[in-house]
Amino acid sequence: MSEARTTFPEKGMSWDVIEPLMTQMAGGDEQWRDGRVPLYVFKATDEAYDVGRDAYFKFFAENALGGKRAFHSIGRMEREVVDMALDLFQAPEGAGGGMTTGGTESIFMAVRACREWAREAKGRQGPFNIVAAESAHPAFDKAGVTMDIPVKRIPLRDDFRADPAAMAAAIDDDTMMMVGSAPCFPHGVIDDISTLSPVAEETGVWLHVDACVGGYLTPFVKRLGREVPDFDFAIPGVRSISADLHKFGFAPKPSSTVLYWSEEDFQRQVFDLDPWTYGRMTTSTLVGTRPAGGIAGSWAVFKHLGIDGYTKVARDLMEMVDGYVAGIEAIDGLKMHAKPDLTIINFGSDEVDIFRVAEVMAESEWVPGMTQRPKGLHAMLSMLHAPAREDYLADLAKAVEKTRLSDEKSTISATY
Ligand SMILES: Cc1ncc(COP(=O)(O)O)c(C=O)c1O
Repeated sequence: MSEARTTFPEKGMSWDVIEPLMTQMAGGDEQWRDGRVPLYVFKATDEAYDVGRDAYFKFFAENALGGKRAFHSIGRMEREVVDMALDLFQAPEGAGGGMTTGGTESIFMAVRACREWAREAKGRQGPFNIVAAESAHPAFDKAGVTMDIPVKRIPLRDDFRADPAAMAAAIDDDTMMMVGSAPCFPHGVIDDISTLSPVAEETGVWLHVDACVGGYLTPFVKRLGREVPDFDFAIPGVRSISADLHKFGFAPKPSSTVLYWSEEDFQRQVFDLDPWTYGRMTTSTLVGTRPAGGIAGSWAVFKHLGIDGYTKVARDLMEMVDGYVAGIEAIDGLKMHAKPDLTIINFGSDEVDIFRVAEVMAESEWVPGMTQRPKGLHAMLSMLHAPAREDYLADLAKAVEKTRLSDEKSTISATY
């Protein structure tokens, strides 16, 4: 039987009463502040967290929809965040872009812009398709389902990166976009964008780089002298990039950027309707009303951390990732699926049922991140996970041993 529907309260309550109720509810949440949730949440430093939160609440009531006509500060912050992002991603003069509420919306907007371009370039309304590696985020399918643009999913190379030859073979007359990830969420590796770009250029297909996870981290990891593949506008043929501020930009949710090598392409995502009774409606996002807090928080965190701050966080993060990887490799029976380019780790086993290990970890109050192909454990690590490392590795070693010694079969499945 389903739970009884919550009724609308007869009488209003004061915050003094509401706040403890919420605290009590949150008591049932997983212990994400202690690094026990391997996705959804991000942290750089305590100070950056406070700056983002304070900036968010300073502009809590403002609406970014009115960034042009009323909240000039927010309009300006949005433009400046986009400028700083274009600068970071080595965009050419005349590039453009905007902010959105997240990776999914950024991807939606890029697909929309690309479809408008394809309609002009091919001189027809459709049909079109997208060629993407198996590991690309489902947001492309979400956009595709909404706009009637099928996504052809192409198997990966053995190193879990997109296979440029197989992607080239899948391109047909209807292909409008090909997608590379920097990195892909499941395996944490950056696709070889420099090899995808000649394919895009030769076939005349729009190349989108989904850097939602890694966009605001990769440039700083590179500064540390670590080898990370190139992914940005310096590579010819990269036409648009999605990069989330609310992930490794360490800004408050919801905030992301969608960037184009030309302002003309950015304008292709703009919705412009004149016959409405109120007047002309022009927006560059899927949503109308938008939280100004996400923009203010992003602007403030950019200003607060700067290149030196982000580089220091990148150093701390990568040292922590190295520690996790070394600890995992030291556990008998486990193996990394791929060497992480950034902070996403994915590992499995040829000896034990790794999903059973996940279940045992869940018994010890770790929320297990999992991948289904190949079967593995997964974590997107930020500084929330630094203090938890030793406990995690100790429990992981015990979970592997327990699994090895028992016949119990896993029943858990990988879900996002
Ligand atoms: C590579 C990648 N792209 C896009 C997204 C979608 O981002 P959002 O959840 O902000 O919509 C994610 C989310 O994890 C991601 O990992």
